[in-house]
Amino acid sequence: MSSTPTTSTPTTSTPTASTPTTSAPTTSAPTASAPAVHLRGLRRVFGTRAVLDGIDLDIARGEFLALLGASGTGKTTLLRILGALDRADQGTVLVPPSRTVVFQEPRLIPSKRVLGNVTVGLPRGAATRETGRRALAEVGLADHADAWPGTLSGGEAQRAALARALVREPELLLLDEPFAALDALTRLRMQDLVGELCRKHRPAVLLVTHDVDEAIRLADRVAVLRDGVLVRDETVTVERPREAADPDFAALRRRLLADLGVHQDSAPRHSAARHSAPQHAASQHAN
Ligand SMILES: Nc1ncnc2c1ncn2[C@@H]1O[C@H](COP(=O)(O)OP(=O)(O)OP(=O)(O)O)[C@@H](O)[C@H]1O
Ligand SMILES: [Mg+2]
Repeated sequence: MSSTPTTSTPTTSTPTASTPTTSAPTTSAPTASAPAVHLRGLRRVFGTRAVLDGIDLDIARGEFLALLGASGTGKTTLLRILGALDRADQGTVLVPPSRTVVFQEPRLIPSKRVLGNVTVGLPRGAATRETGRRALAEVGLADHADAWPGTLSGGEAQRAALARALVREPELLLLDEPFAALDALTRLRMQDLVGELCRKHRPAVLLVTHDVDEAIRLADRVAVLRDGVLVRDETVTVERPREAADPDFAALRRRLLADLGVHQDSAPRHSAARHSAPQHAASQHAN
């Protein structure tokens, strides 16, 4: 978890290539103390629309950043660029070589057992199997190593995907709405699990979410993407354990919802559930 970030350029999908060939000002070579993620002037254009229009962002090693934004604002695009699944058109992108991604759906290989899914792509052998079993135990799936993915519940499958991401001990963990498809109770449990495992393994984390409460509960920092730029990038100072009843929690939630175009005073009064599942409010009002 200590290697130096390398540079992803608009011309390559391998972020281990090292020379920025962007039109952004040249970035000096990163040092061991540099942040895990360093973005300057990042642009991504689809057709005539600059979905990302000059993103400046650092994520420190071991830091957990939650990224909010209405649907279609470019959150996944940003995450995909960090994961070398898409390219930047302009700007400087420094990311560590070891990154893993968890998506909204688990994307397990149906023809491989759970343990095989977790260790897929790793060197074969007893040591890898043992590492895979430990990762499964961490997510509470020790008894499911030999199960087929098709027999898992949605929450179990997503935990298997999390184990697959963590077993590689990534320096950067990219989470794209990983709890969105889960029921409310499972989602809360998964949030706790991810928080616990990230504190233990200490990757830098980018969590893309629509759920404002989830962002506040989990993140060291929250950012909001709107119109191609980050309109907020704020350290979360709410004391842990973070409770929605805490006035600091509520105040930050109000600020974030306002950034998303949701104004609580004008929201329907019956929406007590909004506070436990605010992604619905955010997506209803901000999409
Ligand atoms: N490969 C592509 N070609 C053309 N347009 C694209 C491509 N990828 C994304 N877009 C467009 O870029 C915009 C941002 O997409 P993106 O998936 O990043 O949004 P998002 O913030 O993740 O949305 P959601 O919250 O709904 O997941 C959308 O308008 C989308 O249609
Ligand atoms: Mg998305």
